[in-house]
Formats: sequence, C-alpha cells, structure tokens
Amino acid sequence: MQKLALITGGSSGIGFEIAKKLAEKKYSLIITGRNQEKLQKAADNIGSFCNTYIEAFCSDTTDEKSLEKVFLQIKAKKGKLDMLILNAGSVSTKLISEYANTKELKREININLWGTILATYIFLPLLNKGAKILLVSSAFGLMGAAGYTTYCASKAGVINFADALRRELLKKEISVHVACPSDIDTPMYREEYQNMPKWMKKDARRAAMKPEKAADIILKKCFKNKFLIILTFDILFLVLLIKLTPIRFKNYILDKIFPIPN
Ligand SMILES: NC(=O)c1ccc[n+]([C@@H]2O[C@H](COP(=O)([O-])OP(=O)(O)OC[C@H]3O[C@@H](n4cnc5c(N)ncnc54)[C@H](OP(=O)(O)O)[C@@H]3O)[C@@H](O)[C@H]2O)c1
Repeated sequence: MQKLALITGGSSGIGFEIAKKLAEKKYSLIITGRNQEKLQKAADNIGSFCNTYIEAFCSDTTDEKSLEKVFLQIKAKKGKLDMLILNAGSVSTKLISEYANTKELKREININLWGTILATYIFLPLLNKGAKILLVSSAFGLMGAAGYTTYCASKAGVINFADALRRELLKKEISVHVACPSDIDTPMYREEYQNMPKWMKKDARRAAMKPEKAADIILKKCFKNKFLIILTFDILFLVLLIKLTPIRFKNYILDKIFPIPN
C-alpha cells in the first residue's frame, strides 16, 4: 500500500521540494497552504512528472477550523498518515522596537510555533504506528540573532516542542525529527533579504543552498532517524560552540559573526 504524507506549506520552497522528493519515493501526498492558486500550481507541477495521488487543501495552520476540515476529509477516506511534515512558516526582520503593533509582534510565534503545535495536535490521531513527524525549525532556533527576536523565539520553541514530543511518542513508535536549515534559496528567503534593514544587509550573506538540495539532506537524515537535522558544517560548528564553550566565549564569537544594529 502507498504511504501517505501531509506537508504543511507544501506549495512553495522547502515544503514543495520535500513533497516532490516524497512523490519520487511513491508516497501519496496532501499539501496545505493558504493560497489556493499557489497550491494548485504546486500539485499540478508534481502531478506532471509523477503519477502519484496528490491533494491540495487550502488551510491555515493557525486556524483550528481549517485544520479540522482537512482532518475530517482525511478521516472520511479512512486515510492514515505515515509522515506529518510541519513546515509552514514565516519570517520578518525587524528590531523589537520597530514592530507597529502587538498583532504584528505575535505573527511569528503564531505561525511558526502555535501553528506547528496546533497542527500536531489535530493530525496526531491520524498517524500510523511507525510514522514520522518532521518539524521544520531553523538554525535561528539554536542561536539568537538581532533583528530576528520573535523568529528565533518561535523556532527555539519548535525545537524544544519536538524534543518533548519525541519523548512522549517513544512508546507509540512514532518518531520525531526537527530540521534546522539556514539560508535556503526560497521565495521566503528572497523576500527576507529584500526587506531586511541596511545594517543587516551590509554583512555579505553566504550563497544560499538550493531548496531541492536542502530537501534532499533533510529527508535523508530523517530516514536515517536523526533527531536534530543540521544541514551544513558551519551551523554544526556553531552548535558545538554554543553547547561546549562557556557562554562568554560563545557570545564573543557570535557578536563578531552576526550583524548588530547601531
Ligand atoms: N529559506 C530559508 O532560508 C529558511 C531557513 C531556516 C528555516 N526555514 C523554514 O523553512 C520553512 C519553509 O520556508 P521556505 O523558505 O520554504 O518558505 P516559502 O517558500 O515561503 O514557503 C512557505 C510555505 O508555507 C506556507 N505557509 C505560510 N504560512 C502558512 C500558514 N499560516 N498556514 C499554512 N501554510 C502557510 C506558504 O504558503 P501560503 O503563503 O500560500 O500559505 C508556503 O507554502 C519555514 O518554516 C521557514 O521558517 C527557512
């Protein structure tokens, strides 16, 4: 029987590339996102090269009712999930003092953290024994960068949520994995770069990784049962630095690497 994967934010970037790779592995797919047109285009694209079952549901991960609708549609077809990929996310680059209002201030926590927790809660009953939950956090969930306060907080929350969830689900034989990418050349990354303040831009950014390569690394490590998925050696180095060195030394190095506002 074909395995079934659900990918939130499967219409673009990393989520779309993960969906393509799973289609190549003969998974049936459910992709979600907020924009129906974008979703349909993504589903048609995958359908054009892969003869796999694919459904696209317009659903916002922060909206309980819209997630429940997707849950009921899967349940009605007696569908069971073998993979749940919680990838939908958003980023903005601003100093905390620059947020216009508290609604804007809550945006990243709402989409990246709350949306991930809510979708996990709603889809969990649909998971098969042996299923995998893959959460997409960020390297900025492992370290703090100026201009990304709410993003860093949301993605750190996703990592700790995944850690606790992994332990809760051990005896249910559902494995949990959390990916921490950085600088992946997606529409989100390009928009982030476009909109970031000058003090951030002046520090040259590294060449971004292609999303298809990121998806490939993430899935390979996930299928090798790695819990914390780090994509590049420089991030691995920083993580080891953070974990193994005294805080003062860690802060000294990170203050030299990351851009700092005046
Ligand atoms: N690109 C990077 O450099 C990078 C680095 C670290 C971590 N990440 C993380 O990787 C994940 C994917 O990012 P990406 O770069 O691939 O971005 P992307 O190309 O903009 O894709 C984001 C996807 O999420 C969907 N989405 C956003 N908000 C949603 C919501 N509330 N409910 C449902 N779907 C939603 C978007 O579709 P709609 O807009 O139509 O809803 C889209 O399909 C994010 O969690 C991001 O934080 C990315």
